[in-house]
Amino acid sequence: MKIIVTKDYDKMSEKAFEIMSGVVKSNPRAVLGLATGTTPLGLYKLMTADCKDNGTSYKKIRTVNLDEYAGLDITSPQSYVYFMRENLFKGLDIPLENTNIENGKAADAEAECARYNALLSELPRDIQLLGLGSNGHIAFNEPGTPFGTQTHVVKLAESTVKDNSRLFEKIGDVPTSAFTMGPKNIMQSKKVLILAYGENKARAVYEMVNGEVTESCPASILQLHPDCTLIVDEKAASLL
Ligand code: F6R
Repeated sequence: MKIIVTKDYDKMSEKAFEIMSGVVKSNPRAVLGLATGTTPLGLYKLMTADCKDNGTSYKKIRTVNLDEYAGLDITSPQSYVYFMRENLFKGLDIPLENTNIENGKAADAEAECARYNALLSELPRDIQLLGLGSNGHIAFNEPGTPFGTQTHVVKLAESTVKDNSRLFEKIGDVPTSAFTMGPKNIMQSKKVLILAYGENKARAVYEMVNGEVTESCPASILQLHPDCTLIVDEKAASLL
């Protein structure tokens, strides 16, 4: 794993932008695996500014997102599809039909997971962007998820529900399950770019990089990826 330590969040986002825009510029038809959460927001701002100010085009880019809450409608501001449209897609020239995410309202969850796995095989990713959970999760793969798992429905860990409750009015509103790509799907991307910032990620960063490769720390599987870059700010790197 290649590790880049930056001074702060903004510098982390700039470094991530260098890598992401390198992929987009070298292949205007690239497939980007994307993430939600607070971590990629700085990167998404730089991508939208680059499209607007420098004319970098996303017209032929395709995207696949990691995960979506189960039960939330696409009009719900807390849904990940809404998040992606607000924070990235509306600032790019990408046609929305080129963007993909699990359907959180799917009546048949198993069929939805199979559909998404088939889609991921049809659209091999050039890069997969990831954030890191404070418990070492990647996407919504909580500790204990078998590494061979593909897209599935997961019951969210209490710590994840708590971490994510900041975006909801009250903790009882946070969905308790979600659709997520599995570790196996994540490892199939040609490149992986994982970002983390802030003190509350320091333990998970340490375990991911220096701990053993174990399903108790889902992110530790990235030690086995042939082209994975981790960008962390000094606070998240403080235990390395
Ligand atoms: C988001 C996702 C999650 C987040 C992680 C970190 O699509 O899959 O794994 O990346 O929970 O979240 P933030 O960035 O909000 O700290």
